[in-house]
Amino acid sequence: MIGSKKYMDRLREIPTPFYFYDMDLLRDTLEAVTSEAGKYGYKIHYAMKANFNDRILATMKKYRLGMDCVSGGEVRRAIECGIAPSAIVFAGVAKTDEEIRYGLEQGIFSFNCESREELEVIDSLAGAMGKTADIALRINPDVEPMTHKHISTGKADNKFGISYQEVDQVIEELTELKNLNIVGLHFHIGSQITEMKPFEYLSLRVNTIQDWFEQKGFHLKHINVGGGFGIDYTDPNAHPIPDFASYFAVFNRNLRLREGQTVHFELGRSIVGQCGELLTTVLYNKVTASGIRMALVDAGFTELMRPALYGASHRIENLSASGESLQVYTVAGPICESTDVFARDLPLPITRRGDLLRLMSAGAYGRAMSSNYNLREFPREIFSDDLN
Ligand code: LLP
Repeated sequence: MIGSKKYMDRLREIPTPFYFYDMDLLRDTLEAVTSEAGKYGYKIHYAMKANFNDRILATMKKYRLGMDCVSGGEVRRAIECGIAPSAIVFAGVAKTDEEIRYGLEQGIFSFNCESREELEVIDSLAGAMGKTADIALRINPDVEPMTHKHISTGKADNKFGISYQEVDQVIEELTELKNLNIVGLHFHIGSQITEMKPFEYLSLRVNTIQDWFEQKGFHLKHINVGGGFGIDYTDPNAHPIPDFASYFAVFNRNLRLREGQTVHFELGRSIVGQCGELLTTVLYNKVTASGIRMALVDAGFTELMRPALYGASHRIENLSASGESLQVYTVAGPICESTDVFARDLPLPITRRGDLLRLMSAGAYGRAMSSNYNLREFPREIFSDDLN
């Protein structure tokens, strides 16, 4: 049994909506990911954009994960949480001068650089500070990630990375940029990728690009293949922990590494996605003139934006129902917008005012993307460790 079901008596007393985290599941997931990565000596940087709650970050630190950050704010939070700057990677397609200076002051592991102009800017800011910046070049490998187009990042028409056709030119230019130290290559092709093929294609593309660098006399210490490994949103109860063994094995089979090279990963969703869920109460039931049966709940896209933004679907269970017959519902929230719908045509046991529902697989990009639109309060976060 995963998640809130184990803690129902305690959770019923807490006002909804709120996020609930099953910390045993998080720890089991961390055991799995670190032991599978450890087999190959792979390094993991947790992509904190997925969930930057302090308790979650402290747990990542306990398992000795580094951090993948995408803003100065995230770098600062990672450092405040006690993560060593030498374990922090900083990506982001448009870093400000201030963010770059902060990263330089802290001495982070690497800036993942996304354009030729950014390389020049980091070189000049580092020069002015009398420092050398450790840089990984984020190359856009033009690989099809087989995921939702809104979360694809490694296709030629995405805004991310330096196009791989430009690599030759970049290599020429690098020799002029004296305050940069090229430590590696970085890639990230997209998110919620559940097929292994895209990771295989990525590995093969990495091999080719490495050859180009080597031919020009560049030895790269690190290869960072980003994150993106997906989770089972349809049946989280059956697959609470992603198959990390198969995921890492794809890279081990396909990447051609050089002597002493380390491989880095930036995993977010696959680590933290399944341990979190959003609990919400049914406020009203009604049937529209066209016959649609609505269950109106007290959480909306302010708490969980993924369905409205990407058409994403989260498994919904009625925790108050006990084996009643099913009816088909549209589950919608209180926000004054028609996109504020969590599910349509969903068979659920008959719902009544006051029933507690859970929206599962919401640990990643759930609370982190919430807003206070309509002047709603940010949802609370409750941890299983506090209920034991
Ligand atoms: N590295 C980079 C450079 C990234 O941009 C991302 C995610 C990750 C790592 C971590 O990816 P993950 O392992 O979590 O898939 N809000 C969207 C997902 C956006 C992902 C953004 N970048 C969603 O809710 O599906």
